[in-house]
Amino acid sequence: MKKVGLLVGRERTFPVSLIESINERGGGEVVAEFVKIGGVRHDAGVGYDLIIDRISHEVPFYRAFLKRAALEGCVVINNPFWWSSDDKFFNFSLGTKLGVAIPKTVLLPQKNYIEGITGESLRNLEFPLDWQAIADYVGFPAIIKPFDGGGWKNVSRVNTLEELWEVYDTTDTLCMTLQEMIDWDQFVRCYCIGQQDVMIMPYDPRKGYLSGEQYVQDPTYLTTETAARVAQDVLTLNRALGYDINTVEFAIKDGIPYAIDFMNPAPDAELASVGEFYHNWLTKAVTDLVFRRLAEPRPAQTYRWDALLNPSPAQSGAGQTLTAAAAAAQSAADNVIPQSVRDLPSNVVGTVTDFLGQATGVVSGLVNAVSEAATSGTQAGGQSEPAVQYAPESPKAATKRPRAAAPSGSKKGATKSAPKRAATKGSKKSADEGSSEA
Ligand SMILES: Nc1ncnc2c1ncn2[C@@H]1O[C@H](COP(=O)(O)OP(=O)(O)O)[C@@H](O)[C@H]1O
Ligand SMILES: [Mg+2]
Repeated sequence: MKKVGLLVGRERTFPVSLIESINERGGGEVVAEFVKIGGVRHDAGVGYDLIIDRISHEVPFYRAFLKRAALEGCVVINNPFWWSSDDKFFNFSLGTKLGVAIPKTVLLPQKNYIEGITGESLRNLEFPLDWQAIADYVGFPAIIKPFDGGGWKNVSRVNTLEELWEVYDTTDTLCMTLQEMIDWDQFVRCYCIGQQDVMIMPYDPRKGYLSGEQYVQDPTYLTTETAARVAQDVLTLNRALGYDINTVEFAIKDGIPYAIDFMNPAPDAELASVGEFYHNWLTKAVTDLVFRRLAEPRPAQTYRWDALLNPSPAQSGAGQTLTAAAAAAQSAADNVIPQSVRDLPSNVVGTVTDFLGQATGVVSGLVNAVSEAATSGTQAGGQSEPAVQYAPESPKAATKRPRAAAPSGSKKGATKSAPKRAATKGSKKSADEGSSEA
C-alpha cells in the first residue's frame, strides 16, 4: 500500500476532489489523505510515498518538513528545494534565454533594508540609481511588482517616473522588478501538470476573484498558431524549471504571447474560482501524475545527496565515493538546464498536427482549441480595454527622487500608503495563493 499526503491551506474543494479521485483509482493500494504532523524528528521516516504541497510557501515549518521528506525518498510535488531557490526575476531571465517572449524587466535595489543594514553595508550599491536609464529601457506604462510574490500583492501600474517613485517609496524591504506593461489583446493562464499536460484557459484578470467570470471556456479563443506556441512555451518553461504543478500567464499582444508570471507552484484550483470544467481537468491530471510518479522508479539522482546515499549496486568498493560524488556534481549540472526544453519546432504554423503527434503527453486544452479553431477558422476577439486596474488612483506628481537603496541606509522616505493594488480581487486569497499564486 502506498500513501499520498496532501498539505493544504484554506482551499476547500480541490484537496477533497483530489483525495477522492486518488482513493477511487487506488482501490486500496494507493491511499490519499491530509498530512498530519507535529514535531518532526530528524531521524525517522515520514510515512508518505508522495506528498502534494499546496502551502509550504507560506509555512516555513512545512517547507522544512518537506525537505526532510524528500531525503527519506518521498516524492514531493513541487520540489521544495527548487521552489525555495526560485524567483520570478530569475525565471524571466531564464525564459528569455530559452526563446520565450518576456517583457523587458529590470530588477531594482530595495527601498529599505532589515534592521542593522547601514550605509556601510551597502557600499556595493550604485547611488543614486540611474532611474532615467531604467525607465528608458522598460518604457511607460510599466508594472512594478515583487521579484518573488503572488496573489497580486504589491503589483502596480505606473505611467511616469514620478508615479514609479511614488509606488517604489511604499515598497519598504520588498525587492521589486519594473516590467514593461503589455497592453494585451488577449490573456491566458495555463495549467501545466507533470511537465507534459497543458490546459490553456482564457482568463480575464479584470474580473473579480470568484466572480465566476475570470476563467472562460472557449476553445477557439486563440488561433491555432498562437495556441500551439503558448503550449510549447508552457512546456519549455516548466521543463526548465522542473515544476510538476504550475501555471503560466501570458499577455498576448499582436499575436506574441508574453510570459508575465510563471512561478505559481500552488495554482488556484477552487471550484468556485476556476469552474467545474477546469477543476475536474486538474483533478484528473494531478491524479494521473500521482500514479505515474508512484509507478516510476525513483530517478537515481534527483538530488545531490542521492548519489552518496543511494549509490547504484554496481558501484561498490574503493572508487565508490569518488564516483558518486562525480555523479552528484554531474547531476547538479544537468539539472540546471534540462536537455530538451525545445524539442518541438518553434515555428509551428502549419505544424500543429505534428506538434500534437510529437508531444509526449496529452495537451488536452490544445486539442480542443486546435480542432475547433481549425474548423471555425475564427479568432476570438480581443478585449477592447487593456488591463488598467493598477493605475494609481490619483497619481500625484512626486517631484523628489526616492531616497531608497541609498547607502545612507535611511529608512525615512517610505510612505505609509499601501501600494496601489493590481486588481479587483481585493485582499482575498485562497490560502494557497499566497506568495505563489494569483
Ligand atoms: N508585464 C505585464 N503586462 C501587463 N499586465 C501585467 C504585467 N505584469 C502583471 N500584469 C497584471 O498584473 C497581474 C498580477 O501580476 P503577476 O505578475 O501575475 O503577479 P502575481 O504573481 O502576484 O499574480 C497579472 O495577472 C496581470 O493581469
Ligand atoms: Mg499572476
